[in-house]
Amino acid sequence: MLSRWGWKKLRIPHKSPLSRQGGYRFYRALAIESSCDDSCVALLESDTDSKITIVDHSKSTLSSSAVGGIIPTEAHAFHQYKLANLVSEFLTKNAIDSKNPPDIIMCTRGPGLVGSLAAGLQLAKGLSIAWGKPLLGVHHMLGHIMMAVHDSKSLQFPFLSLLASGGHTMLVLLRSAVDHEIIIDTMDVAVGVSLDKCGRELGIRGNMIGKELDRYVQMISPQEKIEFDKWDISKRKNNPFDFQLQLPLKRPDLPLVPDTIQFAFAGFQSSLQHVRKGKGPSLENDNNTDKKFIAYRLQELVFDHIIDRLNVALKKHGTNSKEYALCDSKFSGINDLVVSGGVAANSRLREKLNTQLKSERYLGNNFNIHIPDVALCTDNAVMIGIAGIEFLKASNLVNDLSILPIPKWPLNDIINVDGYISR
Ligand code: KG4
Ligand code: ZN
Repeated sequence: MLSRWGWKKLRIPHKSPLSRQGGYRFYRALAIESSCDDSCVALLESDTDSKITIVDHSKSTLSSSAVGGIIPTEAHAFHQYKLANLVSEFLTKNAIDSKNPPDIIMCTRGPGLVGSLAAGLQLAKGLSIAWGKPLLGVHHMLGHIMMAVHDSKSLQFPFLSLLASGGHTMLVLLRSAVDHEIIIDTMDVAVGVSLDKCGRELGIRGNMIGKELDRYVQMISPQEKIEFDKWDISKRKNNPFDFQLQLPLKRPDLPLVPDTIQFAFAGFQSSLQHVRKGKGPSLENDNNTDKKFIAYRLQELVFDHIIDRLNVALKKHGTNSKEYALCDSKFSGINDLVVSGGVAANSRLREKLNTQLKSERYLGNNFNIHIPDVALCTDNAVMIGIAGIEFLKASNLVNDLSILPIPKWPLNDIINVDGYISR
């Protein structure tokens, strides 16, 4: 695998703790994440039994609430300004220097914003040269998945993973840390982007609008939610809130089990067009009933859509799915679903996943759902360290110094990119 710039083999010192002789040995990894608007660093240890210990981590986030969203050039400038200082302080705190360096430098290579990724990658290359230690560019989404795996302790390959973040929404079948099959992808935007845009249309402000929408919906009383559920929103004229929304890709003219299963979130934004045009409710007041109704029913339907598509996938690929012509048993032997990404922090999605998946019906009683702690769902460098360590274990590959950021990097192409060298 040659990069288009050509590459030189990065020499790994003869007595590196990463040497394979004698199997896996104890080593320390410094991990950097900067794919979007979080500057993050972490230190991890992997011991002889491949047990991973998180030694320390630190994070600083660009505040975008005033501008209503992340501006890529601002995010790039933020990392240029913040990341080196954050890493420097972190290294001092953990007594890491040229006399006591980590054994490998890992950083996010993609997917993400190119300027943000480049800032982290350049710093990682500099540290790799300065300390003579190997560099590994890590896939951000593998980070989200492996974070959830690490959190759930006993999980083994193969398993399913629902990734629900600002940039991705997909169901992936993972056979190993390097063998991934995408079962459901989104045909338009990711769920996080959709929630952020819908929340903004509804007058919700903050750094992560999806999170603020979650908080806002949680404040609506259970009694009000019961009342809201009574209204039909399939047609605007059927409710007093002038609101129309239906489950995407669920129409009588579409097959119950399609050839390609997809998510579709763009329609949620268009359902709010009348609000944008000023024909909708006044959104200044959080107590406005129209605002509460729309926020609640919209968030419900977004997550109903995710559950609906997951149930279609279980029906199509589950071991007990003989009823439809297109069904196979691809999920045979799979007992686990790992949920990860920023949107996995949503309280209502977590509840729906635990109660509305028809896993027992299609996969039997041994099926488990693993959702990491809320704090671990959003971007951090620990997840990059964990994914890097698992990738290294599975592939024995590191990177040369020529690697570039990969803003769009399909998860099933994790190995099919340039710049890998075996260690
Ligand atoms: O995984 P993440 O931190 O970054 C990406 O890799 O994209 O995800 C960020 C996304 C944002 O769209 C944010 O609004 C959403 O996750 N998010 C939430 C919640 N917390 C973060 N969405 C719904 N409910 C939450 N509690
Ligand atoms: Zn992320």
